[in-house]
Amino acid sequence: MLLGALTSGCNNPNADPIEPASESSRVPDYWPQINPEIPANPVIEQRVGALLQNMTLEQKVAQIIQPEIRDITVEDMRRYGFGSYLNGGGAFPNNDKHASVEDWVNLAETMYQASVDDSLDGSAIPTMWGTDAVHGHNNVIGATLFPHNIGLGATNNPELIQQIAKATATEVAATGIDWIFAPTVAVTRDDRWGRTYEAYSEDPDIVRNYAYAIVRGLQGEGDDFLSQQRVISTVKHFVGDGGTQGGDDQGNNLATEEALFSIHAQGYVGGLTAGAQSVMASFNSWHGKKIHGSEYLLTDILKERMGFDGFVVGDWNGHGQVAGCSNESCPQAFNAGLDVFMVPTQAWKPLMENTLAQVKSGQIPLARLDDAVSRVLRVKLRAGLFDKPSPANRLLAANKSLIGHADHRAIARQAVRESLVLLKNKDQLLPLYPKLNVLVAGDGADNIGKQSGGWTVTWQGTGNTNADFPGGTSIYEGIKARVEAVEGKVELSIDGNFQNKPDVAIVVFGEEPYAEGVGDLANLEYQRGNKADLALLKKLKSQGIPVVSVFLSGRPLWVNPELNASDAFVAAWLPGSEGQGVADVLFSKPDGTINYDFTGKLSFSWPASPGQTLVNIGDEDYQPLLPYGFGLSYGQENVLGDNLNEEVQRTHDDLPPLVLFENSIKAPWQLQIGAVGATQIVTSSVQQVGPVSLRTLDRHIQEDARQLTFDGTEPGQVTIGASFPVDMRNYQEANAQLTLDVRVQQAFSGEVTLAMSCGPDCQSEASLRETLQLLPLNEWQTISVSLDCFDSQHLAQMYAPFVLTSSGEGQLSLANIRLLPHPQSPASVTCDSN
Ligand code: BGC
Ligand code: BGC
Repeated sequence: MLLGALTSGCNNPNADPIEPASESSRVPDYWPQINPEIPANPVIEQRVGALLQNMTLEQKVAQIIQPEIRDITVEDMRRYGFGSYLNGGGAFPNNDKHASVEDWVNLAETMYQASVDDSLDGSAIPTMWGTDAVHGHNNVIGATLFPHNIGLGATNNPELIQQIAKATATEVAATGIDWIFAPTVAVTRDDRWGRTYEAYSEDPDIVRNYAYAIVRGLQGEGDDFLSQQRVISTVKHFVGDGGTQGGDDQGNNLATEEALFSIHAQGYVGGLTAGAQSVMASFNSWHGKKIHGSEYLLTDILKERMGFDGFVVGDWNGHGQVAGCSNESCPQAFNAGLDVFMVPTQAWKPLMENTLAQVKSGQIPLARLDDAVSRVLRVKLRAGLFDKPSPANRLLAANKSLIGHADHRAIARQAVRESLVLLKNKDQLLPLYPKLNVLVAGDGADNIGKQSGGWTVTWQGTGNTNADFPGGTSIYEGIKARVEAVEGKVELSIDGNFQNKPDVAIVVFGEEPYAEGVGDLANLEYQRGNKADLALLKKLKSQGIPVVSVFLSGRPLWVNPELNASDAFVAAWLPGSEGQGVADVLFSKPDGTINYDFTGKLSFSWPASPGQTLVNIGDEDYQPLLPYGFGLSYGQENVLGDNLNEEVQRTHDDLPPLVLFENSIKAPWQLQIGAVGATQIVTSSVQQVGPVSLRTLDRHIQEDARQLTFDGTEPGQVTIGASFPVDMRNYQEANAQLTLDVRVQQAFSGEVTLAMSCGPDCQSEASLRETLQLLPLNEWQTISVSLDCFDSQHLAQMYAPFVLTSSGEGQLSLANIRLLPHPQSPASVTCDSN
């Protein structure tokens, strides 16, 4: 099996001669050999070989370990010389959200200097820093934020995409960072997926063309290839992330191999042709097997058939999800072809030690390690990291004027204009004459955070105010400037109450920011259960005011009621920091002629019902509300009336179980223990915080259970929670039960409760005392708690769906904690009072 991995160092003249791979023969012919525009270079290959020859095993292993800035110090870098490091979404130098450009450059410089300092590790190989600049340099305050990829898909303009990529590279280079984790080339099929907006389209052709353009824009070409003004790019997440069942993030893709290629792998065809130097493995599985552990996909296909000679980086502890692996140990992924472990948290140290031991024992063949290290070195050499000045001394470094530069903002504003898709324009209401009395309403109107979506300053894009976007412009500000320039009047009122009756209302509303699985949906109904924005639209309409809706969203959603209540409706996606682009198109010139026309076209089919989650161009029975490619221009005949079907068939049949803990705590959840109100995140397999101690247990497989001891000195708590709220009402509507496997080892001396918490002083609870007393000691049992025990208001804003509190002493073990819809039997704990 390993032969495949060995041959993959095809450009390494020092690799041992080996037999042809036994596996690659079964790769079907439709997987192409890619001819990258960055061919192998014998001089570089020689340098790789020479470097490799003089490296110790420790130094080699350090090259393949990528820790995160929150969990390493500069001294760790000096001591170990990691090949690379990252900052995750919302991780900043000194943990300071408002870190300055100098702070970013300083961290890059000190890490670099520590890496080339060979006093402790004997290695002078420069490290490299990777960051998620996924819509501009989005972790940095003041950076230009471009529309998220879904909006760029609607522009259908690869040249513009290349300019965006170049501007992004410039801003990233200004902070001393070498490498970015973009583009995402997912082809989203089921729009419930929380990462739909990271995808350009449901159409593989757009994704392939864009991947090519963006990689060129990021990395440059010719003499400018990976120059001081460019950054290394990552095509991600290989492969099939946009095609999981149910649109589940990190889920299972059941596509045939042919569809995996023709739909989901097209971005790699484009990106690798343009010479992308890294590929990120995906969290998802293909037919039940995690990609991080798939030798067939990573080695036989990507490296051998497609000929990719850069390196494969893992996703955020993604290796830990491979069967038989943990975050701390995973020879399986490495042997399958993963070259660099992305290992945030404190897991980097045990992973590094375990990997070293596995190389020494032969469990990881030395040739595999050499291949991976060669790949990393090859990319570093191509990127000139050995020859470029140190990060602080590079051409663009610390040039503050580049962050949010006017030229970049102009490109972003153009992208906003071109991304807007006009879905409805009754009686040719648009364009609006600017000299009017305009009401601007809705909670998205003056909210740059909301118009920018997830991956914006913070990981989830939440917790920001307009003050966090210096130089940015809200949609309202853009409207105000345009209207006031011709002495029209503007009134901003989020709730739509006004002083003077307006001639027209522009209502800006839509999804709250989210990232990754946090954004996964059960169906596509907008504001299910709480149609606040619809109420606002209707309120304005009932007063005879023409209503223009500007809808902010990371995906097409079922908005028939909102469409009916609007005279004009614009899908604006997640435009980013340059909100003026919206007014540029909505308003005519003062003389009434068109300023900018609508040119955006749907790169995703728009659903006709909440359950139509999987509607894509090319489907056999293709009946969306609005087809792929739809988008009105000025003067074109309107197609949507005010009478779209508003009936919803409410079914929860397809609601999957919501897993909080199965072998490991599932993202975005985190386990915390400690005294009531003073819990801390569990970061190791044995940990004590106040009255509670935890240790990891092996029940069926490694580390699939947790043992918790309450010493009774004060009330203790175990929580599973996230740092943002999740709406769990659909689980209550589906009669779900919270189920867990539990084994009581020492009876509890006091009260034990299980609560669901929506924040401080916001929770409902059930008593577990009697239930636990009745359980036989030292035996695993499954218990279930009816969600009716919890207030549905609370469930709408769930921060911690599992809060176990014990007032006295006792000991138990826990496994498999989940919300199970449509349970077969009644819950063991019920609450009659609700
Ligand atoms: C995401 C990646 C991202 C990485 C680093 C992961 O959870 O899936 O897209 O690059 O985190 O922040
Ligand atoms: C981290 C982010 C990271 C994300 C990746 C989160 O827990 O806080 O920084 O990008 O995980 O999934």
